[in-house]
Amino acid sequence: MSDIPVSTPINPMLGDNMQQATLDDRNNIPNAGHGGHTVIEEATQDKVKATEKNKTVGKPLCDNPKIEVRDVSVFYGEKQAVFGVDLDIAKNEVIAMIGPSGCGKSTFLRCLNRMNDTVDTCRVEGSITLEGQDIYAPKLDVVPLRAKVGMVFQKPNPFPKSIYENVIYGPKIHGLASRRSEMDEIVETSLRKAGLWEEVKDRLHQPGTGLSGGQQQRLCIARTIAVSPEVILMDEPCSALDPIATAKIEELIAELSQNYTIAIVTHSMQQAARVSNRTAYFHLGKLIEVNDTQLVFTNPDHELTEAYITGRFG
Ligand SMILES: Nc1ncnc2c1ncn2[C@@H]1O[C@H](COP(=O)(O)OP(=O)(O)OP(=O)(O)O)[C@@H](O)[C@H]1O
Ligand SMILES: [Mg+2]
Repeated sequence: MSDIPVSTPINPMLGDNMQQATLDDRNNIPNAGHGGHTVIEEATQDKVKATEKNKTVGKPLCDNPKIEVRDVSVFYGEKQAVFGVDLDIAKNEVIAMIGPSGCGKSTFLRCLNRMNDTVDTCRVEGSITLEGQDIYAPKLDVVPLRAKVGMVFQKPNPFPKSIYENVIYGPKIHGLASRRSEMDEIVETSLRKAGLWEEVKDRLHQPGTGLSGGQQQRLCIARTIAVSPEVILMDEPCSALDPIATAKIEELIAELSQNYTIAIVTHSMQQAARVSNRTAYFHLGKLIEVNDTQLVFTNPDHELTEAYITGRFG
Protein backbone atom coordinates (compact mmCIF):
# COMPACT_ATOMS: atom_id res chain seq x y z
CA MET A 1 0.00 0.00 0.00
CA SER A 2 1.20 3.48 -0.71
CA ASP A 3 0.76 6.48 1.53
CA ILE A 4 -2.71 7.86 1.92
CA PRO A 5 -2.54 11.61 1.42
CA VAL A 6 -4.04 13.29 4.46
CA SER A 7 -4.87 16.50 2.65
CA THR A 8 -6.85 14.89 -0.19
CA PRO A 9 -10.46 16.08 -0.33
CA ILE A 10 -12.38 13.14 1.05
CA ASN A 11 -15.58 13.33 -0.85
CA PRO A 12 -15.93 15.16 -4.14
CA MET A 13 -19.72 14.88 -3.87
CA LEU A 14 -19.82 17.18 -0.86
CA GLY A 15 -19.97 20.94 -0.83
CA ASP A 16 -16.98 23.26 -0.57
CA ASN A 17 -16.91 23.32 3.21
CA MET A 18 -16.88 19.59 3.44
CA GLN A 19 -14.33 19.28 0.66
CA GLN A 20 -11.91 20.98 2.97
CA ALA A 21 -12.61 18.39 5.65
CA THR A 22 -9.29 16.68 6.03
CA LEU A 23 -7.62 14.91 8.86
CA ASP A 24 -5.95 18.20 9.74
CA ASP A 25 -9.36 19.44 10.78
CA ARG A 26 -8.96 17.81 14.13
CA ASN A 27 -6.99 20.94 15.01
CA ASN A 28 -10.24 22.86 14.79
CA ILE A 29 -11.96 20.75 17.40
CA PRO A 30 -12.45 22.93 20.49
CA ASN A 31 -9.79 22.54 23.11
CA ALA A 32 -11.03 20.37 25.92
CA GLY A 33 -8.73 22.03 28.43
CA HIS A 34 -6.32 19.19 29.13
CA GLY A 35 -2.89 20.71 28.80
CA GLY A 36 -3.64 22.05 25.35
CA HIS A 37 -4.67 18.68 23.88
CA THR A 38 -8.08 18.05 22.46
CA VAL A 39 -10.06 15.01 23.54
CA ILE A 40 -9.80 13.56 20.05
CA GLU A 41 -6.04 14.07 19.97
CA GLU A 42 -5.68 12.13 23.17
CA ALA A 43 -7.97 9.41 21.94
CA THR A 44 -6.13 9.03 18.67
CA GLN A 45 -2.54 9.04 19.81
CA ASP A 46 -2.31 5.23 19.81
CA LYS A 47 -3.93 4.93 16.38
CA VAL A 48 -2.25 3.79 13.21
CA LYS A 49 -1.61 6.99 11.27
CA ALA A 50 -2.85 7.66 7.77
CA THR A 51 0.69 8.55 6.72
CA GLU A 52 2.14 5.20 7.78
CA LYS A 53 2.74 2.65 5.06
CA ASN A 54 0.89 -0.44 6.10
CA LYS A 55 -1.50 -3.16 5.15
CA THR A 56 -5.04 -3.31 6.43
CA VAL A 57 -5.08 -3.10 10.22
CA GLY A 58 -7.14 -5.31 12.52
CA LYS A 59 -8.42 -8.73 11.55
CA PRO A 60 -8.86 -8.95 7.78
CA LEU A 61 -8.15 -12.70 7.79
CA CYS A 62 -9.87 -15.54 9.61
CA ASP A 63 -9.75 -19.31 10.06
CA ASN A 64 -11.66 -21.47 7.56
CA PRO A 65 -12.75 -18.66 5.27
CA LYS A 66 -15.66 -19.09 2.91
CA ILE A 67 -14.25 -16.42 0.62
CA GLU A 68 -10.55 -15.52 0.33
CA VAL A 69 -9.62 -12.28 -1.39
CA ARG A 70 -5.94 -11.73 -2.09
CA ASP A 71 -4.30 -8.60 -3.45
CA VAL A 72 -7.38 -7.58 -5.40
CA SER A 73 -7.19 -4.36 -7.40
CA VAL A 74 -9.91 -3.07 -9.68
CA PHE A 75 -9.54 -0.65 -12.57
CA TYR A 76 -12.07 1.19 -14.70
CA GLY A 77 -9.98 1.82 -17.81
CA GLU A 78 -6.86 3.59 -16.55
CA LYS A 79 -8.44 4.61 -13.28
CA GLN A 80 -7.81 2.39 -10.28
CA ALA A 81 -10.81 2.11 -7.93
CA VAL A 82 -9.68 -0.63 -5.52
CA PHE A 83 -6.10 -1.13 -4.29
CA GLY A 84 -4.61 -4.47 -3.25
CA VAL A 85 -7.32 -5.76 -0.93
CA ASP A 86 -6.69 -8.85 1.24
CA LEU A 87 -9.78 -10.08 3.05
CA ASP A 88 -11.31 -13.32 4.30
CA ILE A 89 -15.03 -13.70 4.83
CA ALA A 90 -16.01 -16.47 7.22
CA LYS A 91 -18.87 -18.91 6.85
CA ASN A 92 -22.12 -17.60 8.38
CA GLU A 93 -20.52 -14.26 9.05
CA VAL A 94 -22.18 -10.91 8.41
CA ILE A 95 -19.51 -8.47 7.32
CA ALA A 96 -20.40 -4.81 6.84
CA MET A 97 -18.52 -2.57 4.43
CA ILE A 98 -18.50 1.11 5.19
CA GLY A 99 -16.69 4.22 3.99
CA PRO A 100 -17.17 7.54 2.22
CA SER A 101 -18.98 7.72 -1.10
CA GLY A 102 -16.78 6.65 -4.01
CA CYS A 103 -14.32 4.70 -1.85
CA GLY A 104 -14.93 1.48 -3.79
CA LYS A 105 -17.39 -0.46 -1.63
CA SER A 106 -19.76 -1.39 -4.46
CA THR A 107 -16.89 -2.07 -6.83
CA PHE A 108 -15.34 -4.42 -4.32
CA LEU A 109 -18.63 -6.14 -3.48
CA ARG A 110 -19.33 -6.73 -7.17
CA CYS A 111 -15.96 -8.50 -7.51
CA LEU A 112 -17.27 -11.26 -5.25
CA ASN A 113 -19.72 -12.59 -7.83
CA ARG A 114 -18.07 -11.18 -10.94
CA MET A 115 -20.80 -8.62 -11.44
CA ASN A 116 -18.06 -6.24 -12.63
CA ASP A 117 -17.76 -8.44 -15.74
CA THR A 118 -20.81 -6.58 -17.00
CA VAL A 119 -18.84 -3.30 -17.07
CA ASP A 120 -16.75 -3.22 -20.26
CA THR A 121 -13.96 -1.04 -18.94
CA CYS A 122 -13.60 -2.90 -15.66
CA ARG A 123 -10.55 -5.09 -14.95
CA VAL A 124 -9.99 -7.12 -11.79
CA GLU A 125 -6.51 -8.24 -10.69
CA GLY A 126 -5.58 -10.58 -7.84
CA SER A 127 -7.36 -13.69 -6.67
CA ILE A 128 -10.72 -14.50 -5.13
CA THR A 129 -11.68 -18.00 -4.10
CA LEU A 130 -14.99 -19.40 -2.90
CA GLU A 131 -14.30 -22.46 -0.76
CA GLY A 132 -10.94 -22.78 -2.44
CA GLN A 133 -12.25 -22.47 -5.99
CA ASP A 134 -10.89 -19.60 -8.10
CA ILE A 135 -13.98 -17.64 -9.15
CA TYR A 136 -11.96 -15.86 -11.87
CA ALA A 137 -10.81 -19.12 -13.48
CA PRO A 138 -11.17 -18.61 -17.24
CA LYS A 139 -13.44 -21.62 -17.70
CA LEU A 140 -15.72 -20.81 -14.77
CA ASP A 141 -19.38 -20.29 -15.72
CA VAL A 142 -20.61 -17.11 -14.04
CA VAL A 143 -24.29 -18.12 -14.12
CA PRO A 144 -24.03 -20.79 -11.39
CA LEU A 145 -21.51 -18.58 -9.57
CA ARG A 146 -24.11 -15.80 -9.33
CA ALA A 147 -26.63 -18.30 -7.99
CA LYS A 148 -24.15 -19.37 -5.31
CA VAL A 149 -23.20 -15.77 -4.58
CA GLY A 150 -26.48 -13.89 -4.90
CA MET A 151 -26.91 -10.14 -4.87
CA VAL A 152 -29.52 -7.73 -3.55
CA PHE A 153 -29.31 -4.20 -4.87
CA GLN A 154 -29.94 -0.75 -3.44
CA LYS A 155 -33.21 -0.27 -5.29
CA PRO A 156 -35.65 -3.15 -5.18
CA ASN A 157 -35.83 -4.43 -8.76
CA PRO A 158 -38.55 -7.08 -9.08
CA PHE A 159 -39.16 -8.38 -12.61
CA PRO A 160 -42.41 -7.18 -14.20
CA LYS A 161 -43.99 -10.53 -13.39
CA SER A 162 -46.09 -12.00 -10.62
CA ILE A 163 -44.74 -12.48 -7.10
CA TYR A 164 -44.70 -16.24 -7.76
CA GLU A 165 -42.83 -15.87 -11.05
CA ASN A 166 -40.29 -13.52 -9.48
CA VAL A 167 -39.34 -16.15 -6.94
CA ILE A 168 -39.40 -19.18 -9.23
CA TYR A 169 -37.59 -17.53 -12.15
CA GLY A 170 -34.08 -18.44 -10.91
CA PRO A 171 -34.85 -22.03 -9.87
CA LYS A 172 -36.43 -22.58 -13.31
CA ILE A 173 -33.39 -21.33 -15.22
CA HIS A 174 -31.03 -23.30 -13.00
CA GLY A 175 -33.13 -26.43 -13.41
CA LEU A 176 -33.82 -26.69 -9.67
CA ALA A 177 -37.53 -27.31 -10.10
CA SER A 178 -39.85 -28.48 -12.84
CA ARG A 179 -42.91 -30.03 -11.18
CA ARG A 180 -45.58 -27.66 -9.96
CA SER A 181 -45.43 -29.05 -6.41
CA GLU A 182 -41.65 -28.50 -6.27
CA MET A 183 -42.08 -24.96 -7.51
CA ASP A 184 -44.84 -24.22 -5.01
CA GLU A 185 -42.62 -25.44 -2.22
CA ILE A 186 -39.63 -23.34 -3.27
CA VAL A 187 -41.85 -20.25 -3.57
CA GLU A 188 -43.36 -20.74 -0.13
CA THR A 189 -40.06 -21.59 1.59
CA SER A 190 -38.23 -18.66 0.02
CA LEU A 191 -40.98 -16.19 0.85
CA ARG A 192 -41.13 -17.50 4.40
CA LYS A 193 -37.37 -17.14 4.81
CA ALA A 194 -37.61 -13.61 3.46
CA GLY A 195 -40.33 -12.82 6.00
CA LEU A 196 -42.89 -12.04 3.29
CA TRP A 197 -45.09 -15.15 3.07
CA GLU A 198 -47.86 -14.02 5.41
CA GLU A 199 -48.20 -10.70 3.60
CA VAL A 200 -48.41 -12.14 0.08
CA LYS A 201 -49.71 -15.71 0.29
CA ASP A 202 -53.15 -14.65 -0.97
CA ARG A 203 -51.81 -12.61 -3.88
CA LEU A 204 -48.99 -14.73 -5.31
CA HIS A 205 -50.16 -14.21 -8.87
CA GLN A 206 -50.35 -10.44 -8.67
CA PRO A 207 -47.46 -8.31 -9.97
CA GLY A 208 -44.36 -8.04 -7.77
CA THR A 209 -44.13 -4.39 -8.70
CA GLY A 210 -47.43 -3.78 -6.88
CA LEU A 211 -45.84 -4.37 -3.49
CA SER A 212 -44.54 -1.62 -1.19
CA GLY A 213 -40.82 -0.75 -1.39
CA GLY A 214 -39.98 -2.78 1.71
CA GLN A 215 -42.02 -5.74 0.48
CA GLN A 216 -40.35 -5.51 -2.94
CA GLN A 217 -36.93 -5.64 -1.29
CA ARG A 218 -37.97 -8.73 0.67
CA LEU A 219 -39.27 -10.20 -2.60
CA CYS A 220 -35.83 -9.60 -4.12
CA ILE A 221 -34.28 -11.32 -1.12
CA ALA A 222 -36.72 -14.25 -1.59
CA ARG A 223 -35.72 -14.38 -5.26
CA THR A 224 -32.06 -14.55 -4.25
CA ILE A 225 -32.70 -17.23 -1.62
CA ALA A 226 -34.77 -19.33 -4.03
CA VAL A 227 -31.69 -20.59 -5.87
CA SER A 228 -30.07 -21.78 -2.60
CA PRO A 229 -27.14 -19.39 -2.49
CA GLU A 230 -24.24 -19.77 -0.08
CA VAL A 231 -23.35 -16.11 0.04
CA ILE A 232 -25.63 -13.07 -0.21
CA LEU A 233 -24.17 -9.71 -1.21
CA MET A 234 -26.24 -6.66 -0.32
CA ASP A 235 -25.42 -3.20 -1.64
CA GLU A 236 -27.21 -0.66 0.56
CA PRO A 237 -30.35 -2.80 0.64
CA CYS A 238 -32.24 -0.42 2.92
CA SER A 239 -31.33 2.96 1.52
CA ALA A 240 -34.65 3.27 -0.33
CA LEU A 241 -36.70 2.01 2.62
CA ASP A 242 -38.46 3.61 5.58
CA PRO A 243 -37.36 2.77 9.15
CA ILE A 244 -40.01 0.06 9.64
CA ALA A 245 -39.14 -1.73 6.40
CA THR A 246 -35.45 -1.28 7.29
CA ALA A 247 -35.98 -2.89 10.68
CA LYS A 248 -37.63 -5.87 8.98
CA ILE A 249 -34.70 -6.34 6.60
CA GLU A 250 -32.26 -6.06 9.50
CA GLU A 251 -34.14 -8.75 11.44
CA LEU A 252 -34.06 -10.84 8.34
CA ILE A 253 -30.29 -10.43 7.95
CA ALA A 254 -29.84 -11.73 11.50
CA GLU A 255 -31.97 -14.78 10.71
CA LEU A 256 -30.37 -15.42 7.34
CA SER A 257 -26.88 -15.31 8.83
CA GLN A 258 -27.60 -18.68 10.43
CA ASN A 259 -27.58 -20.27 6.98
CA TYR A 260 -25.78 -17.86 4.71
CA THR A 261 -22.64 -15.77 4.57
CA ILE A 262 -23.60 -12.12 4.12
CA ALA A 263 -21.59 -9.10 2.95
CA ILE A 264 -23.49 -5.84 3.23
CA VAL A 265 -22.51 -2.36 2.09
CA THR A 266 -24.21 0.31 4.13
CA HIS A 267 -24.01 4.05 4.63
CA SER A 268 -25.66 3.66 7.99
CA MET A 269 -23.15 3.08 10.73
CA GLN A 270 -26.01 2.21 13.08
CA GLN A 271 -27.07 -0.47 10.66
CA ALA A 272 -23.53 -1.85 10.38
CA ALA A 273 -23.34 -1.87 14.18
CA ARG A 274 -26.67 -3.65 14.48
CA VAL A 275 -26.30 -6.38 11.87
CA SER A 276 -22.64 -7.30 11.42
CA ASN A 277 -19.98 -9.37 13.17
CA ARG A 278 -17.06 -7.59 11.53
CA THR A 279 -16.86 -4.23 9.83
CA ALA A 280 -14.53 -3.32 6.98
CA TYR A 281 -13.64 0.34 6.50
CA PHE A 282 -12.69 1.46 2.97
CA HIS A 283 -11.05 4.76 2.16
CA LEU A 284 -10.05 5.97 -1.32
CA GLY A 285 -10.12 2.40 -2.65
CA LYS A 286 -8.03 0.94 0.15
CA LEU A 287 -9.20 -1.43 2.84
CA ILE A 288 -7.98 0.45 5.88
CA GLU A 289 -9.29 -1.61 8.77
CA VAL A 290 -11.29 -4.74 9.44
CA ASN A 291 -12.23 -5.53 13.01
CA ASP A 292 -14.98 -6.86 15.20
CA THR A 293 -17.85 -4.46 14.67
CA GLN A 294 -18.04 -3.39 18.29
CA LEU A 295 -14.36 -2.49 18.26
CA VAL A 296 -14.64 -0.52 15.01
CA PHE A 297 -17.38 1.63 16.50
CA THR A 298 -15.91 2.06 19.95
CA ASN A 299 -12.13 1.96 19.60
CA PRO A 300 -10.92 1.53 16.02
CA ASP A 301 -7.23 0.87 15.40
CA HIS A 302 -6.78 3.32 12.53
CA GLU A 303 -7.11 7.07 12.68
CA LEU A 304 -8.94 7.16 9.33
CA THR A 305 -11.59 4.78 10.66
CA GLU A 306 -11.94 6.91 13.74
CA ALA A 307 -12.27 10.09 11.70
CA TYR A 308 -15.06 8.48 9.68
CA ILE A 309 -17.03 7.00 12.54
CA THR A 310 -16.83 10.20 14.54
CA GLY A 311 -18.31 12.04 11.57
CA ARG A 312 -15.31 14.14 10.65
CA PHE A 313 -15.61 13.14 7.03
CA GLY A 314 -17.68 11.03 4.70
N1 LIG B 1 -18.90 1.84 -14.17
C1 LIG B 1 -17.93 2.65 -13.77
N2 LIG B 1 -17.10 3.24 -14.68
C2 LIG B 1 -16.10 4.05 -14.27
N3 LIG B 1 -15.81 4.36 -13.00
C3 LIG B 1 -16.59 3.81 -12.06
C4 LIG B 1 -17.69 2.93 -12.39
N4 LIG B 1 -18.29 2.55 -11.24
C5 LIG B 1 -17.61 3.14 -10.24
N5 LIG B 1 -16.60 3.90 -10.72
C6 LIG B 1 -15.63 4.68 -9.94
O1 LIG B 1 -14.97 3.83 -9.03
C7 LIG B 1 -14.82 4.46 -7.76
C8 LIG B 1 -15.50 3.62 -6.70
O2 LIG B 1 -16.89 3.65 -6.95
P1 LIG B 1 -17.93 2.76 -6.13
O3 LIG B 1 -19.25 2.90 -6.79
O4 LIG B 1 -17.38 1.40 -5.96
O5 LIG B 1 -17.92 3.52 -4.72
P2 LIG B 1 -18.86 3.33 -3.45
O6 LIG B 1 -17.94 3.26 -2.26
O7 LIG B 1 -19.79 2.19 -3.65
O8 LIG B 1 -19.64 4.70 -3.41
P3 LIG B 1 -21.15 5.02 -2.91
O9 LIG B 1 -21.08 4.98 -1.42
O10 LIG B 1 -21.39 6.40 -3.44
O11 LIG B 1 -22.06 3.99 -3.50
C9 LIG B 1 -15.41 5.85 -7.91
O12 LIG B 1 -14.36 6.74 -8.19
C10 LIG B 1 -16.35 5.71 -9.08
O13 LIG B 1 -16.47 6.93 -9.76
MG1 LIG C 1 -21.87 2.04 -3.82
